Amino acid sequence: MGTNGVASKYGTVSRVADIPTPALLVVNSALERNLDTMAKVLPGTRLRPHVKAHKSTDLARRQRDHGHLGFTVATIREAEGLHAAGLGHDLLLANEVLDARRLGALVQNGARVTLAVDSIETIEAAVSGGVQEVLIDVNIGLPRCGCRPDEAGELAALATLKGLQVRGVMGYEGHLMVEQDSDERREAFAGSMRDLAHAHELVGGEIVSSGGTGTYAHHIEHGVASEVQAGSYALMDSAYAKLGLPFEQSLWLLSTVISVSAQGWAVANCGLKSHGMDHGDPSLAGHQVWFLSDEHAVIGNDATTENGAENVKVGSRVSFMPAHVDPTVTLHEQLWLVEGTADDDRVLERWPVDLRNW
Ligand SMILES: Cc1ncc(COP(=O)(O)O)c(C=O)c1O
Repeated sequence: MGTNGVASKYGTVSRVADIPTPALLVVNSALERNLDTMAKVLPGTRLRPHVKAHKSTDLARRQRDHGHLGFTVATIREAEGLHAAGLGHDLLLANEVLDARRLGALVQNGARVTLAVDSIETIEAAVSGGVQEVLIDVNIGLPRCGCRPDEAGELAALATLKGLQVRGVMGYEGHLMVEQDSDERREAFAGSMRDLAHAHELVGGEIVSSGGTGTYAHHIEHGVASEVQAGSYALMDSAYAKLGLPFEQSLWLLSTVISVSAQGWAVANCGLKSHGMDHGDPSLAGHQVWFLSDEHAVIGNDATTENGAENVKVGSRVSFMPAHVDPTVTLHEQLWLVEGTADDDRVLERWPVDLRNW
């Protein structure tokens, strides 16, 4: 890791103060603790990290170094990028596609690609695209992709008949991920797992793939899934922070205050085009976030009302906590890996968000 600064199109960047804003920072030690914490409870192939949360092959390499050799992807582009980076050992595209030719090309090129299928059409697409291995995707409660659990056996039989290798089943309980009532989450989770186990009985195979950051601990308790597809745990966001998980915020959106009003607000240079907003506004310690417009985040700036936080000034740099990691990261070209304190910080590496876009 560099200590003399990081080359970029902005010149050499050594200190956080040199980073042009708005910018995404990843705090190296917090990231490492998150990766360690997860790898201890879900070691090796028990975790198939989902790269859609960070879209960075550099970060995926860190996950590989923590022992996870297989990855989950949401797009063909993510699969291609991982393979090009030497991380295509065992990729699961946990999503349906109707044109699988680029995946077939990856397989020809030496990648191992397993594709989720939930219909006759997606099975046919896998066959004609040259994909050889599939999982039957089962709906376990989230109204999104996946066949009914009782249809899984028939689809598996059809896939086998067409010459595909069926490695097992997957089901994603996304409707439970940020459910804050842990009793409700646990109860609904048990129902989802009954459906997944039923589908697996009908399909067979060595893989039962499921889960995410919000339910990984239930998977450890419950034991139906052979692997968990968590992704957000590495960087985290304020939606997951509410669940009290043992992961820290390692991702911050650094911005600069560009205007201050004597009437009690200030404006930072990071708006809707820097933040994924589907989970609401980002947060800023000590300040209320009033609203975001395209290029601006307007924050309360009256120290008397916000736990004695200091007012910001024009030129102050402030770090927002993103509300939803995945759609935030994909808006940015790079992640700046940093370490240190406000008085003594270092920029260690610059990681392109190279799996972004389609
Ligand atoms: C199919 C699938 N699996 C796993 C995940 C991982 O979830 P998380 O990033 O919340 O850990 C997602 C996220 O949306 C997903 O769509």
